[in-house]
Amino acid sequence: MSIKSNEEDGNQTEPITFILLDFNNEDLQVLFSVLFLPIYLVTMAGNILIILLVVNNQHLHTPMYFFLGNLSCLETCYSSAIMPRMLVSFLTGDRTISVHGCFLYFFGFLAATECYFLAVMSYDRYLATCRPLHYVMLMDGRICIMLIAGSWISGSLGISIIIFLVSQLRFCGPNKINHFFCDLTPVIRLSCDKTDLVEMTAFIISSIGTLPPLLITISSYVGIIKNIIRIPSTTGKQKAFSTCSSHLTVVACFYGSLMIVYVLPNMSSLSDLKKLFSLFYTLLTPLVNPIIYSLRNKEVKDAAKKTFKTLTALASQYECLQKQVINVIN
Ligand SMILES: *[C@@H]1O[C@H](CO)[C@@H](O)[C@H](O)[C@H]1NC(C)=O
Repeated sequence: MSIKSNEEDGNQTEPITFILLDFNNEDLQVLFSVLFLPIYLVTMAGNILIILLVVNNQHLHTPMYFFLGNLSCLETCYSSAIMPRMLVSFLTGDRTISVHGCFLYFFGFLAATECYFLAVMSYDRYLATCRPLHYVMLMDGRICIMLIAGSWISGSLGISIIIFLVSQLRFCGPNKINHFFCDLTPVIRLSCDKTDLVEMTAFIISSIGTLPPLLITISSYVGIIKNIIRIPSTTGKQKAFSTCSSHLTVVACFYGSLMIVYVLPNMSSLSDLKKLFSLFYTLLTPLVNPIIYSLRNKEVKDAAKKTFKTLTALASQYECLQKQVINVIN
């Protein structure tokens, strides 16, 4: 936001706040407040649980679980950038948001990092199923760290560029955002500067963020499916297919919604559709990913059980100690 523009333009005043026009519908408003809070809490609980399990269990220190842990970390971050502010405005009915507060929402662009993680994870699974003999060599610790760091860096770079460009724009009047959070396109539309450069950059960043990982993901799953077809036993086949199809469903929902929101042209006739689909990647994916990828997985379940047992053991020891202390005092 360039502060100096106030003086330059004389009588033009910059809006200090934006107003979010979410649904223009009271019933939906109530429904969404009731739905979003539990969704957010479950999302946080699921993802944080996975991070804790991965970090604290030695036998989950493998590339696959590092990717999962980092994915959960990422989802915790960007849901927390978007959801709490959205919930507050739903619950209090306060639709105003400061222009700088709005920028926080661009962290939704971390979704690009998620695309890379999903691609890396599908490639990892591809190597594990189709090249099991070379897997350990192909996915060693160094490569694993490079892939993870690369995903984080490219996502953060994208956000920094977007935030920088948008912060150079002047907003000099219209301040009604037709969305329930400050998504990039509706915000850009309010600027009174030429926005071609920002729109072009955003388009390029979102295309680079989604298309190459999508291609990697699709080709990895094609390889995995080919391999599954060769499994001789029917039960083995079914099991492998069920895991694979649940992953594919999540991946398809995620990419589909991202592309509808960011890659489709910026037409007002599409804005309601985009509003709805932005819920998919902000709300739905972070909620279902931990369930689909980890909590259905035997190793993670075992780790969770073990941790839970340790905790209950600690609790009973603590109770025991408490009793002893009470006895001593009495
Ligand atoms: C993320 O990946 C790094 C590098 O492999 C790993 O050391 C770290 O434990 C991972 N983080 C989580 C939360 O799993």
